[in-house]
Amino acid sequence: MTEAILLVGGKGTRLRPLTVHTPKPMVPAAGVPFLAHQLARARAAGVDHVVMATSYLAEVFEPYFGDGSQLGLHLEYVTEKEPLGTGGAIRNVASRLRSAPSDPVLIFNGDILTGLDIGALVATHTRSGADVSLHLTRVEDPRAYGLVPTDEDGRVTAFLEKPQTPEEIVTDQINAGAYVFDRSVIDTIPADRPVSVERETFPGLLAEGARLQGMVDSTYWLDLGTPQAFVRGSADLVLGRAPSPALPGRCGERLVLDTASVAPDAKLTGGTVVGAGATIGAGARIDGSTVLDGALVEQGAYVRDSLIGAGARVGSGAVLDGAVVGDGAVIGERNELRDGLRVWCGAHIPAGAVRFSSDE
Ligand code: GDD
Ligand code: MG
Repeated sequence: MTEAILLVGGKGTRLRPLTVHTPKPMVPAAGVPFLAHQLARARAAGVDHVVMATSYLAEVFEPYFGDGSQLGLHLEYVTEKEPLGTGGAIRNVASRLRSAPSDPVLIFNGDILTGLDIGALVATHTRSGADVSLHLTRVEDPRAYGLVPTDEDGRVTAFLEKPQTPEEIVTDQINAGAYVFDRSVIDTIPADRPVSVERETFPGLLAEGARLQGMVDSTYWLDLGTPQAFVRGSADLVLGRAPSPALPGRCGERLVLDTASVAPDAKLTGGTVVGAGATIGAGARIDGSTVLDGALVEQGAYVRDSLIGAGARVGSGAVLDGAVVGDGAVIGERNELRDGLRVWCGAHIPAGAVRFSSDE
């Protein structure tokens, strides 16, 4: 098995509001565009040909990844004129595949960070003789995902995308966004119109009696759909909880990119990433956070579980906990920003303007 399709289109591709111009897959996670981790993991599992199915600002991928040769891959790009949905996007790249009809083709959602054993999913597929095999994971609240109940042999019995009613929540097993398709199944998806693989293709295959096999495991898994999840994922990459051959450095408490400048007494912990050209001032403490390229965290600031956008500035003595600061935004001194607060790109918060504490 040598081929994979990576789905990186659709309307949800942007990491809002971190940056208005950069699609999420290219925002650096642990120092490199997030997609580099997925591509490197696929390569390590023996994949050598990847077709990126894109629909949205596709032109940003190619200048960075090129023909994929630096990653040891042959990489191709196919851009939809209009988003074709997950199934339509898969069908739309079928002509680029080189596999024979019965060969397995890997397919990945482009926004998932996972330790999936890709080889094990392929082995499950081959062993079970399935038409499609799906990686499944268990989550506490499955409502935002595709629910995938299975029988005692792991055979999928239903596919319920984004369940609406309590009765539909029949399992905590969800579609983890990685599949193995027999090449011939891809050819049965209708061409040239939007198709959702989750709402149309999977339920349709089940109704026809096709065999869909689920592989449940408890490996690292995270959907990077929110900035908070993105920060978590980036920190987990640095800490080594999420395995990636593309990590530009050793696993540890921190990852400081080459051209960053960090004051000797600044404390960086919990998988914090400091991007190229960023500056961390004296006595600053940064825990489990991502500081993107060119950002400045001034002396004595405290930043935890937060995302600091490219070129943004965090003033001295500011406290950020669970906050997202957009590219180029300025957080004046002594502000206190907490729990899910998002500062828009380029916004300017004057010194001492936002406090949660009553200490001044
Ligand atoms: N090329 C292309 N064209 N890609 C698309 C399109 C499209 O029209 N629509 C979505 N995608 C890509 C997205 O970029 C993403 O990588 C992937 O397909 C899944 O789309 P999302 O929009 O992120 O879906 P979701 O997160 O709500 O749900 C999906 O992922 C869950 C796991 O995180 C579903 O597959 C669920 O069943 C699953 O549980
Ligand atoms: Mg998603």
